Amino acid sequence: MKIHIKSPGRVNLIGEHTDYNGGYVFPCALDLTIDLLFEKKSKESYVNTDLGYSMSFDINTAYKKSNNHWENYVLGTVNELKQIKSKLSNFSCLIKSTLPSGAGISSSSALVCGLIKGLSIINNIDLNNSEIINLSRNVEHKYIGVLGGIMDQFTILNAKKNMGILLDCENLKTKYINLDLGEYKLLLIDTNVKHNLASTEYNKRVSECKQSLKIINRVCNSIYSNLSQVKEIDLSLSKNKLGQTLYKRASYIFNENKRVMKSANFLENNKLKEFGQLMFESHLGLKNDYQVSCKELDFLVEKAKENDGILGARMMGGGFGGCTINLIKESSINKFIEAIKEEYFSKFALTLNPIIANPDIGIQMKII
Ligand code: GLA
Repeated sequence: MKIHIKSPGRVNLIGEHTDYNGGYVFPCALDLTIDLLFEKKSKESYVNTDLGYSMSFDINTAYKKSNNHWENYVLGTVNELKQIKSKLSNFSCLIKSTLPSGAGISSSSALVCGLIKGLSIINNIDLNNSEIINLSRNVEHKYIGVLGGIMDQFTILNAKKNMGILLDCENLKTKYINLDLGEYKLLLIDTNVKHNLASTEYNKRVSECKQSLKIINRVCNSIYSNLSQVKEIDLSLSKNKLGQTLYKRASYIFNENKRVMKSANFLENNKLKEFGQLMFESHLGLKNDYQVSCKELDFLVEKAKENDGILGARMMGGGFGGCTINLIKESSINKFIEAIKEEYFSKFALTLNPIIANPDIGIQMKII
């Protein structure tokens, strides 16, 4: 028996850095996937990838961190599953991927969710989606050191074809919204920037948000349990005590949540132009208030603003590299890329990589 898992990447229409603040996000799954083929083995476990990386180990030896970053996703997942069932079966896993890594489209969560699904089936561990989300988040927190939220995993597990998920990260309530974009497409442009800053600054934002919440609760004598619940009046009452940086962070979260709700409404009513405007606003918030953009992302968004075929663009994901997401007329895609790619290369000595994102179904499993 072989188990084939198809685990997709994640696109986020709008709602960035709101997930770990109990706020709204609006993601969908991508039609690019990591494919994992599992088989039970009696002696050793091994994982082979089409990128040429491979590893082997005995599943029942004690966990030890690896110096090869990607191996820790596998070892961390195995170790988390051992907390549920102490003796696991050895396995082989062949991995093929059409999902670029380090592009901010969640290849790491796609990998971890795929590993958890496959290994739980091999070992007869019954897990529901929220247990998989928690396990996967633990892997990123404990073994990789990035204190991410749940947007990526939730999307990978629950996405539907051609649908966006309006998700309230406080209670995981969802509303699926048809992404009928007519002559428009979602175009991702990978900056190919891989900043080391990404994980340290990400964790810094998480702690700045926690700190802001504490200050607001103290100043307002309130018991908000996350930053997304904070009312505008309390935000302004706390402005002085928060100081400039924390006030910027907290007001970004306030505004981004509002933008997500408005966006969902616009998309339900086919108001693409209005939604596009909010994408540009979201980018400005991420650049100036949340301060997670970089010059390459800003350049691509500025160029998008100048293009008549583009209704909206912004940086997507954690920031400091990765992709922009553009709402662009299909007929304008080639011209836009042709027009900017040389300037991008001469400015940053990097090649940009366009990806047309078709909203697709979440994780798929087949037993062969
Ligand atoms: C990364 C994290 C997500 C989310 C985004 C920013 O992708 O994994 O949980 O916080 O950044 O919106």
